[in-house]
Amino acid sequence: MSQKSYDVLIIGSGVAGLSLALRLASTHKVAVMSKVSITEGSSRYAQGGVAAVIDKDDSIKLHVSDTFDAGASMCDKDVVKHVAKRSGGCIEWLQDLDVKFTTDFDRHGNERLHLTREGGHSQRRVAHVDDATGKEIIYKLVELSKKHENIDIYEHHIVVDLIKSRSEKQGSCIGAYILDKKSDTIRVFKAANTVLATGGASKVYLYTSNPDCSTGDGIAMAWRAGCRVANMEFNQFHPTCLYHPEAKSFLISEAVRGEGGKLVLPDGKPFLHKYDEREELAPRDIVARAIDNEMKTLGIECVYLDISHKGPEFVKEHFPTIHKKCLKFGYDMSAERIPVVPAAHYTCGGVVTDVNGATDVPGLYAIGEVAYTGMHGANRLASNSLMECLVFAETASKAIKHSKAELFKFEIPEWDESQVTDSDEAVVVSHNWDEIRRSMWDYVGIVRTDKRLARAASRIALLQKEIHEYYWNFKVSSDLVELRNLALVASLIVESAQSRRESRGLHFSLDYPAPMIRPLPTVLDPNK
Ligand code: FAD
Ligand code: SIN
Repeated sequence: MSQKSYDVLIIGSGVAGLSLALRLASTHKVAVMSKVSITEGSSRYAQGGVAAVIDKDDSIKLHVSDTFDAGASMCDKDVVKHVAKRSGGCIEWLQDLDVKFTTDFDRHGNERLHLTREGGHSQRRVAHVDDATGKEIIYKLVELSKKHENIDIYEHHIVVDLIKSRSEKQGSCIGAYILDKKSDTIRVFKAANTVLATGGASKVYLYTSNPDCSTGDGIAMAWRAGCRVANMEFNQFHPTCLYHPEAKSFLISEAVRGEGGKLVLPDGKPFLHKYDEREELAPRDIVARAIDNEMKTLGIECVYLDISHKGPEFVKEHFPTIHKKCLKFGYDMSAERIPVVPAAHYTCGGVVTDVNGATDVPGLYAIGEVAYTGMHGANRLASNSLMECLVFAETASKAIKHSKAELFKFEIPEWDESQVTDSDEAVVVSHNWDEIRRSMWDYVGIVRTDKRLARAASRIALLQKEIHEYYWNFKVSSDLVELRNLALVASLIVESAQSRRESRGLHFSLDYPAPMIRPLPTVLDPNK
């Protein structure tokens, strides 16, 4: 079978992957892979917006200190500064591409970006497109990528594994094995540079705000290729997802609280003042833990979010998408409170990179939610993620343009399926998928203990053994690729959580409630 060759192979078509593709396309031939349709991914669902230092009362210093505070003092300050400094430029880049951010007028009648507020931000700092920021950005990036002659888009193509050269001591990444889900064939794609932009791993939990594709594939592939991963114990739970059996944990943006929404108990009483003086605007880890505690203490199934006091006009103008979606489930948020619960939302840890997105493996980069850059520490500040995607796409594009990496000269061995048969027990995949996600939710959730983590570790180890045998004996399918990755990522999360003997940010342990004096990131190394 012919082997396709590109200057750059970008795995993922979210904000990270597509903005990198567009930044490279004037000089490089680029392939963009999406295991689903091109617009699908967390990016498309982003509501709140993109954090950026724009307002005249704001400063890089304030953004850095808010990020550091939300991150429970574990962010890499240089990296946060690197991102905050470039944030305004990235918003201008999007505006130049014709992304139409929501605007308002200052008191002199000049049009300006409307900046909203979210938890942990001391300033209005979040540029947005109503409450559907991700959709507007992604649709624009997709439109431009599709038009560009140097960008080839492959939808419904799932990358199975990265390929490394064996000719050097420290093998470089020379491409990937990719399964075309429609024709059910695995092909080799060669590339001088390969970029993981595969998003996060929140699908490892039973309840999540993320789309189905957030299965941590990039983290698992990078680990198998020999990259270090860090801070996997810090999975962020968003405090407010709609509580309804058919809503699939639909997100209710933190901007609702930023614009005055109140969290209340079933009897209508507020409760956040008991946990943090910033109340509704405390960072997410604190709000999610407070809700979890109230739910467990009172034995209630949800709490309520109320913004009805702002009136129908305000609510419909600021939150048209959320308002419409809630109506579909029988709730009019402009007139009544809505039921909410926390759900897994964001993977703060990931593949270790430098400020250019370069990983430990030459020729391999990781940008966006898949990466651990040091930006988010123990808890990500709201709306810092899209900004990180945009900034690292910019810096990685510069590094790739300067890179001397070349295409591998020789033919790469094709994927060998001669020893495997079609599976006759697809139930193994669906059963194990459910079991991993439930174990993670029950034992590795918002509040952890040594005992719960040990239970999760032994169950996941058993499942991994079963999946390993299955993987090598049967024909590879997309579901099996994802299940194998999900199990590996679950094991990395548990191992990281077990090694952190303190409570900090998103990792809260009843056995170690106090924070350590000098906390360090949890770095796991597959080569050790
Ligand atoms: P994604 O957008 O998740 O894209 C991942 C891509 O990788 C997809 O194209 C997928 O098909 C592809 N992929 C994955 N594995 C493979 C594989 N094996 N082979 C081929 N392709 C693969 N952040 C903010 O900053 N502001 C917000 O307002 C905000 N709101 C959010 C609301 C929701 C509901 C959610 C879920 C997240 C929100 N976030 C927000 C977080 C933010 O959206 C994500 O962190 C960010 O979009 C991640 O972008 P990404 O490009 O890294 O990955
Ligand atoms: C939200 O709108 O609440 C999500 C923002 C984010 O995850 O950064």
